[in-house]
Amino acid sequence: MQIFGVDIGGSGIKGAPVDLDRGDLAAERFKVLTPNPSTPDAVADGVKEVVDHFGWSGPLGVTFPGVVTGGATIRTAANVDKAWVDTDARALLGERLGGLPVLVLNDADAAGIAEMNFGAGRDRRGTVITLTFGTGIGSALFIDGVLVPNTELGHLELHGHDAETRASTKAKEDHDLSWEHWAHRVQKYLAHVEMLFSPELFIVGGGVSRKADKFLPLIEGIKADIVPAELRNNAGIVGAAMGAAKSAA
Ligand code: BGC
Repeated sequence: MQIFGVDIGGSGIKGAPVDLDRGDLAAERFKVLTPNPSTPDAVADGVKEVVDHFGWSGPLGVTFPGVVTGGATIRTAANVDKAWVDTDARALLGERLGGLPVLVLNDADAAGIAEMNFGAGRDRRGTVITLTFGTGIGSALFIDGVLVPNTELGHLELHGHDAETRASTKAKEDHDLSWEHWAHRVQKYLAHVEMLFSPELFIVGGGVSRKADKFLPLIEGIKADIVPAELRNNAGIVGAAMGAAKSAA
């Protein structure tokens, strides 16, 4: 069975039909740049362009980089236009797509769902936390495979700062940090999250997971296992489709 997945990010809107049995894209993904400003209307047009590219006319799941309640309503928008706050994204996108059924969920929650089912978290019980490092830091907390949605651990306070402004990959780029320097910040961040939740496993996702060999070996003193995400940059798309399939079932 296939469902369409769309991942709305700070820089790109990407999507593809997803083969839910394999947990993988059923076709090569298509991407458009996230409009600037990233207002609801402009982003909805981008999502439509991606969906239309495949001529898709069935249900879809869409990720959003902020708190999403009830599969629909946006509550926060740290790295996209603030006009999203309190928008019913499910209604907006459904309407723009001519009435297709839409489920909206947090981007890191979607990535975590994909990893727990088809990637690095397969068959892992206990407390597992997926962290996505990109424009911000996203988090997905699972207890015995069950998601606790919208945990927003990227906004924990670290040395008096919003953690994602110190340890995201955007912070690495903005401040031109070496891998060593950045890994040190990530280590401090992981230690803080570990102190709060004592997870068995951290899954490190986001685009930077492709370069895991450059920074994971530099991280010390964390008791939990730390592994790179396996679905890499497609986890959001796959998880979005899986979330939509589950809510339709
Ligand atoms: C947002 C989260 C999101 C993360 C990654 C954070 O700034 O608050 O909701 O998951 O960025 O995009």
